[in-house]
Amino acid sequence: MEQLEPTLAAIAGADTIEAVEALRVAALGKQGWVSALLKSLGAMSPEERTSTGPRIHAAREAVTAALSERRASLESAALEAKLAAETADLSLPAPAAPRGSVHPVSQVMDELAEIFADMGFAVATGPEIEDDWHNFTALNMPETHPARAMHDTFYFPDKDAEGRSMLLRTHTSPVQIRAMLSQGAPLRVIAPGRVYRSDSDATHTPMFHQIEGLVIDKGIHLGHLKWTLETFLKAFFERDDIVLRLRPSYFPFTEPSVEVDVGYTLVNGKRVVGGGGDVPGGGWMEVLGSGMVNRKVIEFGGLDPDEWQGFAFGTGVDRLAMLKYGMDDLRAFFDGDVRWLGHYGFGALDVPTLSAGVGARA
Ligand code: PHE
Repeated sequence: MEQLEPTLAAIAGADTIEAVEALRVAALGKQGWVSALLKSLGAMSPEERTSTGPRIHAAREAVTAALSERRASLESAALEAKLAAETADLSLPAPAAPRGSVHPVSQVMDELAEIFADMGFAVATGPEIEDDWHNFTALNMPETHPARAMHDTFYFPDKDAEGRSMLLRTHTSPVQIRAMLSQGAPLRVIAPGRVYRSDSDATHTPMFHQIEGLVIDKGIHLGHLKWTLETFLKAFFERDDIVLRLRPSYFPFTEPSVEVDVGYTLVNGKRVVGGGGDVPGGGWMEVLGSGMVNRKVIEFGGLDPDEWQGFAFGTGVDRLAMLKYGMDDLRAFFDGDVRWLGHYGFGALDVPTLSAGVGARA
């Protein structure tokens, strides 16, 4: 029993959980001195057992109590140290979860598809690598037509199997021809997509986006065109005070051709679409090219122009995005700068719907 005092002293002085465990094994383990004493009880005479037994049990209890007390105090000291070392400043903002955003061009194309779907337009597509027949000839621009030179076209060095020059389409108008040839009449389509011209400054990039609209039916006239554009622009800019000015113009594929200006108002020196026009503080800006589809184009589309008429329009998607969301440099659209995308991009759940508003931002 002479081991009791040194054991208790050693337990009180143990400074790690491992040291406490080693002392437990030395005293209470199978080979421990307390266990050995307990085993010796069996060989004792009843008198001896009565006098020694309680002292052995008392020693065991004293060692057990000392061990658990020391263990508890070492554990709480370890916890204190951990709490002192680790800090969490709950006043800091939550770290930003990494996320992508929807590019304004994609968003605006979705908005346009939604608006025109509501007016019964389907989406049509055509290739970006086009031939000069679809891009020019069938749109009433024969080889010698001066308008061809105005398009700053990117040509490929080789011709296709039918001897047609291949190029990057300079506008979405060739989709008019493809839609008429593949779907016939009546027809109501929009064709959003990439187009290419050899041109580059703050408002022109070699690749940009257009949306084409085409309606072919019986008895179509300019009134249908004006109503459609007015309805579209009101829905797109989400304002009822949209005013339009139709100006006579020229495109080889429409006759008559109409350039469409929309009224703007100056707000803090910036042009904002809506109101304006011929009033003080207002003005006009061009937003669309359009017109009644040229008879020759309807023929190239495989339809009889005495039976079918139509209107077409085309406009820049990037420009529409700039006018609606306020960017002022087109080049930034195609830089892929995540800071620009973070600022002007849209959340994946900002799906444009007519019921919630085509320009709704979460
Ligand atoms: N394709 C013309 C352009 O790129 C726009 C347009 C389309 C004009 C349809 C009239 C009709 O400028």
